[in-house]
Amino acid sequence: MPIVTWCDEYSVNVEEIDIQHQKMLEHVNNLHTAVEACIDKNELKKLLVELVEFTRMHFSTEEKLMKKHDYTDFAEHHKEHRILLRHMRDLVNAVSSGKYPTFYSDYDVSTDWALVHIAEHDKSLGAFLNSKNVF
Ligand SMILES: [Fe+2]
Ligand SMILES: [Fe+2]
Repeated sequence: MPIVTWCDEYSVNVEEIDIQHQKMLEHVNNLHTAVEACIDKNELKKLLVELVEFTRMHFSTEEKLMKKHDYTDFAEHHKEHRILLRHMRDLVNAVSSGKYPTFYSDYDVSTDWALVHIAEHDKSLGAFLNSKNVF
């Protein structure tokens, strides 16, 4: 059962970003299902790395749009992206060193980090891009 389900409320009204967010939630769900099923550590690491790589690509998409349109809150948003990526890298390292995450307590990678970031940062970016006629 998916832990996070996309709904229109999460839309930032920019198609490219919305599509990537939906894909990102799929990765989060896959990871969560895998943890619940206690899959093999190497398989888990593979899923985590996929999530990290996808997230990195997604952040870079947003950052390119921010730069292209001179987004005033670029520095803060970029900093948040870096924090999230660092957190995910720590998780990959933890799994690599033999630990098995629960995602709720051990590593504090709660499944809603993506939704919190969308609500607190990406929505503002979306509104800004809309004001520049980017949808
Ligand atoms: Fe973002
Ligand atoms: Fe985003």
